Amino acid sequence: MRFEGSNQYVATADLQLAVNAAITLQRPLLIKGEPGTGKTMLAEEVAKALGMPLLQWHIKSTTKAQQGLYEYDAVSRLRDSQLGGVDGGRVQDIANYIVKGVLWQAFDADQPCVLLIDEVDKADIEFPNDLLRELDRMEFYVYETRQLIKARHRPVVFITSNNEKELPDAFLRRCFFHYIRFPDKETMQRIIDVHYPGLKRDLLGEALRVFFDVREMPGLKKKPSTSELLDWLKLLLAEDIPPEALKSGDRKKIIPPLHGALLKNEQDVHLFERLVFLSRTGQ
Ligand SMILES: Nc1ncnc2c1ncn2[C@@H]1O[C@H](COP(=O)(O)OP(=O)(O)OP(=O)(O)O)[C@@H](O)[C@H]1O
Ligand SMILES: [Mg+2]
Repeated sequence: MRFEGSNQYVATADLQLAVNAAITLQRPLLIKGEPGTGKTMLAEEVAKALGMPLLQWHIKSTTKAQQGLYEYDAVSRLRDSQLGGVDGGRVQDIANYIVKGVLWQAFDADQPCVLLIDEVDKADIEFPNDLLRELDRMEFYVYETRQLIKARHRPVVFITSNNEKELPDAFLRRCFFHYIRFPDKETMQRIIDVHYPGLKRDLLGEALRVFFDVREMPGLKKKPSTSELLDWLKLLLAEDIPPEALKSGDRKKIIPPLHGALLKNEQDVHLFERLVFLSRTGQ
């Protein structure tokens, strides 16, 4: 069971190493990195490459750890008992009103699967701590039915974080960690090739130059990332923008065409305009 990237996802050697290390250790892989650097997609691609089903749990600020295990649907049970017409035996048996969460589904699956816990940092601080035992021992107890649920097969677990909150040490100890570094030019070129295989080299070259120039601008509030570059390229292709329009020699173009795909707030657009203006008057 080894992951070596796929023809839709460019995985650098260190990322492959991290995925395989986590699989060998049988520990969750904690993935961090700038937004849009392929954290979520990694889990999807690993599942595909290893031929395993993928179960996804998207975490929100209101998500509780318990929801990943199971929930007791007391409201349905009460309604069934009051309305009648429902088989009395069904209402008696509390197990009929236990709704399985994503973790339980992963534990219950009859083949090993990939479990993605996406954006773990969105939940409150207790959330990761509440899952320590479940992720470690791969088991939990259902108090309502007095059942111990154990994973039939240990899932391959991916946990992503955008660093909005620190994660507790006890949680970190149980994970293998990898930070997806922002792709260098060569890696970025490979990623673009995956998405736009026939892209003309001169357009690609100019677009990459503009993109990395924008990223390197000092004082930028939000640096554009891989997914934004891909969006921008899509627009350049759709609008049939020639590579010349991106060349810095072209004085008429103040900022790159369709820059709304790259710069996401007015301060950054102003900053860019000011820099272009200064460089033009300085010449
Ligand atoms: N290594 C890569 N190979 C191929 N495509 C990539 C790669 N990295 C990013 N992408 C592209 O960028 C898009 C965004 O990736 P993804 O949604 O996985 O980012 P993310 O890191 O989960 O972002 P966020 O933190 O905002 O959730 C993907 O749909 C894919 O098109
Ligand atoms: Mg994501």
